Amino acid sequence: MKVTVFGIGYVGLVQAAILAEVGHNVICVDVDEGKVERLKQGQIPIYEPGLEPLVKENHAAGRLNFTTNAIEGVNHGEVQFIAVGTPPDEDGSADLKYVLAVASTIAQHMDRHQIVVDKSTVPVGTGDKVQAQIAKILAERGRSDLTFNVVSNPEFLKEGSAVADCMKPDRIVIGTDSQHAEEVMRELYAPFNRNHEKIIVMDVRSAELTKYAANCMLATKISFMNEMANLAEILGADIEAVRHGIGSDPRIGYHFIYPGVGYGGSCFPKDVQALIRTADHINFDAKVLKAVEARNNEQKTTLFAKINKHFNGNLKGKTFALWGLSFKPNTDDMREAPSRVLMEALWEAGAKVQAYDPEAMHETQRIYGNREDILLCGTKESALKHADALVIVTEWQAFRAPDFDVIKELLSEATIFDGRNMYDPKRMQKRGFTYYSVGRSS
Ligand code: UDX
Repeated sequence: MKVTVFGIGYVGLVQAAILAEVGHNVICVDVDEGKVERLKQGQIPIYEPGLEPLVKENHAAGRLNFTTNAIEGVNHGEVQFIAVGTPPDEDGSADLKYVLAVASTIAQHMDRHQIVVDKSTVPVGTGDKVQAQIAKILAERGRSDLTFNVVSNPEFLKEGSAVADCMKPDRIVIGTDSQHAEEVMRELYAPFNRNHEKIIVMDVRSAELTKYAANCMLATKISFMNEMANLAEILGADIEAVRHGIGSDPRIGYHFIYPGVGYGGSCFPKDVQALIRTADHINFDAKVLKAVEARNNEQKTTLFAKINKHFNGNLKGKTFALWGLSFKPNTDDMREAPSRVLMEALWEAGAKVQAYDPEAMHETQRIYGNREDILLCGTKESALKHADALVIVTEWQAFRAPDFDVIKELLSEATIFDGRNMYDPKRMQKRGFTYYSVGRSS
């Protein structure tokens, strides 16, 4: 099938690449000329395992193309995906200007039936707005004879495993009340709908809410566990034991109940906030979501609080080795990363940071530039030199079994603040470290 994808961000590029991989013919449209040119030359704007070969091979095979020409895009696809960003506006609501701009572009140039599919995460009711926008412009063009369907098809990919998530989805949610659109979407996704039925068809509004409900549920699990961890610390319990104890109940499950330094990334913080705002706009008090958000904001400050307490509030002139800058492993994404809240608090208190991350060094440099109080280190060991303590913020595999003797030798003081419970407290004690972690009192 011929497909057009508007917006070559994370979601759009991965979606386009996997559709091309199974044989569809895909054109990606973006307003950023530089990005389009670089993609044509095989330069991928994001770090995502497996994405680069997929883009290069399918581009070389002629099934995946990139353009800034919106008219070419509209003419190409039988299905037009909208995968542009929905950044939070001033009050945290999702800003729909890019989504509606693409809808307008499609309406201005279409001259046959079109299926317009919303892949961006958009508030409930956006499908109706897209529908109205397209109908308005078609009427202005005197082309109200042209028919179209608006479909909601939310994306559930995780950064770091985006290609795998999309190639083997758990579910494919399709929001539409049109039989025709449902059939076309089923055909488009048939290559991914193997082994068992994964397509779940529902109305547009339910599909839109499904995306938010999924992310907010996951965020709730994390904030709940962080709350339990904070309680465990005070009560003298071990959250890791508690995690096992509750995860063994299949109704709770082991996934997504790891306490830590708070959730970050481009989705959870934004989506929880956007759903709170959606609720506010209809005078509904989303009490649970507000608590989830508040707990998370506070959780991002807990590592700093532990460091500050350990050094009796005297952090001026201290140097901290920081391992892990990205909001989670296997990505270079620093959006809403807990490392940023920590670093900014350390700098505010007059401390310096020697930071290392396997992928996010460029991103850190881009965000913070050349500050005097941050040293970007080429290896995890060089970050340790003469530092007063090691702070672990992101649980990269490369940090799981470090040489503890080297750590001890390089640090001025054998102290570790671990925001991800990477190590066993008893072993750390035996190795001679002062070891702080999350939800474990020892
Ligand atoms: C998330 C959803 O998982 C995905 O389905 C959706 O489409 C987009 O948002 P992503 O933001 O890539 O994906 O990251 P994810 O792996 O879900 O992690 C989100 C955050 O939660 C990270 O900061 C992570 O460290 C944190 N987290 C996750 C925990 O603190 N504890 C856990 O148990 C799990």
